[in-house]
Amino acid sequence: MGAIIIKGAYIITGDSESNIFASADLLIENDRIAAIGSIPLKKKALVIDAGGKFVFPGFIQTHVHLTQSLFRNMADELSLLKWLKQKIWKLEAAHDSESSHFSAQLGISELVKSGVTTILDMESVHHSESAFHAARESGIRAFIGKAMMDKGESIPAALKEDTESSLMRSEVLIKQWNGAENGRINYALAPRFVLTCSEELLRGVGKLSQKHRLLIHTHSSENKEETERVREMTGMGNVEYFNHLGLAGPHLCLAHCIWLAEKEIDILKQKGIKVLHCPSANLKLGSGIAPAWEYIKKGINVSLGSDGAACNNNLNMFQEMKLASFLQKPGHGPEAMNAETIFKMATINGAKALGLEEEIGSIEVGKKADLVLFDPNRINTLPALDKNPYSIIVYSGSPENIQMVIIDGKIVMESGMMNTIDEIRLIGGIDTIAAEVVKRAGL
Ligand code: GUN
Ligand code: FE
Repeated sequence: MGAIIIKGAYIITGDSESNIFASADLLIENDRIAAIGSIPLKKKALVIDAGGKFVFPGFIQTHVHLTQSLFRNMADELSLLKWLKQKIWKLEAAHDSESSHFSAQLGISELVKSGVTTILDMESVHHSESAFHAARESGIRAFIGKAMMDKGESIPAALKEDTESSLMRSEVLIKQWNGAENGRINYALAPRFVLTCSEELLRGVGKLSQKHRLLIHTHSSENKEETERVREMTGMGNVEYFNHLGLAGPHLCLAHCIWLAEKEIDILKQKGIKVLHCPSANLKLGSGIAPAWEYIKKGINVSLGSDGAACNNNLNMFQEMKLASFLQKPGHGPEAMNAETIFKMATINGAKALGLEEEIGSIEVGKKADLVLFDPNRINTLPALDKNPYSIIVYSGSPENIQMVIIDGKIVMESGMMNTIDEIRLIGGIDTIAAEVVKRAGL
């Protein structure tokens, strides 16, 4: 791999001092940021003219289901448990390795085009290797895990596993994929949620997490009925239960966290548990509004996710940023969740959620070269005065502003097209593949 020099950019570093460098250059050598400042041209370097463009750290999207990209617009106007039982589990059970691969490519393309460079993904129970392959080929940085489900109502036979094989299959994938591609691809354990996981399975997940030093990625307290059922089953709230099982800690990543008791919020704080905030999905499924501003004020790490395309129905980071901000303003005043706070949620807080804050999440010398070029000189963002770059990005930005995406030092997307995914084949094939899955699902 050679060097890349980005010339004359407006660099929004997102570092701890929120440094911004106007008209600066950035040198990428191999997979890392080698220098920021005034960089002399080098013979063999690829030079990118970024005059008038923003450069900022790629977004880190910490809760998605690539496996559900194919189910976009197929499961609307339903609340969580009906949505899962009537549609999503049946559709997931009908996936094969080809449809899972298409689904992952579709999701990754949409994510990268909205400026995302890293994801935390929960797959379905089977065919997760397709998502690993798609992530590897696409160049995205990804933490992926197979969903684990060994109990629960209305689960199709094809998705229900016994405890031991769920743990064993996870461990096989860990050995195959964790740390692949020079550390760009990683495994994150994915027990689906308490209602589909036995105590024995969750304890096993805790052991695997310790043994291989892995994140645990799950759903928690997303829906009122779900939360009440967990309480009936265990006598505890979700977070209390995870704590009781010894799973609470900085490696525990909990999507949603809408319906927490006060003492569970204390556990989040004390144990350094990470909250993955999914504003669009929470609204679309009618689940509620997570008290994200309260979490931030308490020093709890909140990062963003779009959840799957089947409950959103897009994977557009700009939409999540805007909603995450706007949702807090009626209750806490217009100054709450300002644009810079949201920018940090979408970048460095995502890195912290994954335990990768030394490697990604800001533009700093020595960190991985995961960054985007954003053109503020477009109708939806003009006027682009340099007084308010965070407002330009968070409040008026959209995927159309993203001109280039670099991950691990490689140009993955350029001029609105993926370099690493055959979009013509993808677009041409998706409808047929989706129709086959729907037919197999009997829907
Ligand atoms: N809870 C358990 N599974 C899921 C899922 O696939 N999506 C969402 N939003 N919540 C869940
Ligand atoms: Fe989810």
